Amino acid sequence: MKSLKVFMLIGDPVEGSLSPVMMNAAFRALKLNHAYVAVRVREKLLGDAIAGARRMGIAGLNVTIPHKIAVMSFLDALDESAALAGAVNTIKNSRGRLVGFNTDGEGALWNLEEKAGRVKGKRVLLLGAGGAARAIAFSLVKAGAELTIANRTVSRAEELASLIEQKLGKKLEVMSTDRAELKRALAGVEILINATSVGMRPRENETLVTAEMMHKNLVVYDIVYKPLRTRLLREAEKAGAVTIDGLGMLVRQGALAFEIWTGKRAPIKVMEAAARGEVGKVVG
Ligand code: ATR
Repeated sequence: MKSLKVFMLIGDPVEGSLSPVMMNAAFRALKLNHAYVAVRVREKLLGDAIAGARRMGIAGLNVTIPHKIAVMSFLDALDESAALAGAVNTIKNSRGRLVGFNTDGEGALWNLEEKAGRVKGKRVLLLGAGGAARAIAFSLVKAGAELTIANRTVSRAEELASLIEQKLGKKLEVMSTDRAELKRALAGVEILINATSVGMRPRENETLVTAEMMHKNLVVYDIVYKPLRTRLLREAEKAGAVTIDGLGMLVRQGALAFEIWTGKRAPIKVMEAAARGEVGKVVG
């Protein structure tokens, strides 16, 4: 048997993460002698942790909050996905050379297109302009969606739009999250994506959009998965819209990381079943 390869998730906090169960299930399914562990790393020790991972020959890492941006300065190279997203969630160790990738945007796009068909030419309203929104916005625009970005702080939405215009040559509309404005915009939109933290436990009763603002031909995608059925998705159901929960994105960003590390097709069904089984236990 080949020697053991170790993969790691670093973040703070990491307890409650679904990734170890999901990734180890994938490794087992493909009979790979690999192991995946989650390690809590404090912000000020991030550089030491990356140096340690390098020295110990950790084969690959996932990076989560709060390290996705800061970690970039400790790496040897960035894949285009990470350079565009301005954040790293996956690191591959290629014989001591650490390369950063970002699979969040492509994971979300994969999940969305599976459930709602191609986004090319579709009008999409994206709520949020933070790290998660940024990765998703780049993937959507690259795939040809007609994107509008709405954010509480409009200046952040404007910054993201101008970055996308600069990098991809596509001009986007931006707006605030004012209810009346959102309602007007939603009437002409086919897909709504929440990439803000609104609705996440413990503020699970909050939502930026309610049923009377939506219509039944809308696809509503919430990247929040704690809880799985967010207030936004419950409101969308009331409006008769199609809903997609955030677990699919988590599984697919993990599957893309798996493929970067192993060069093998990820056993997506095994990963999804493992994550769905675990989600009931740890995040409910
Ligand atoms: P992440 O990396 O997870 O995207 P982030 O960069 O802190 O985290 O971004 C959080 C997003 O949720 C932002 O779009 C934020 O809006 P602002 O840019 O105005 O801060 C949004 N958000 C968080 N709480 C919110 C709330 N109560 N109402 C509206 N938007 C909110």
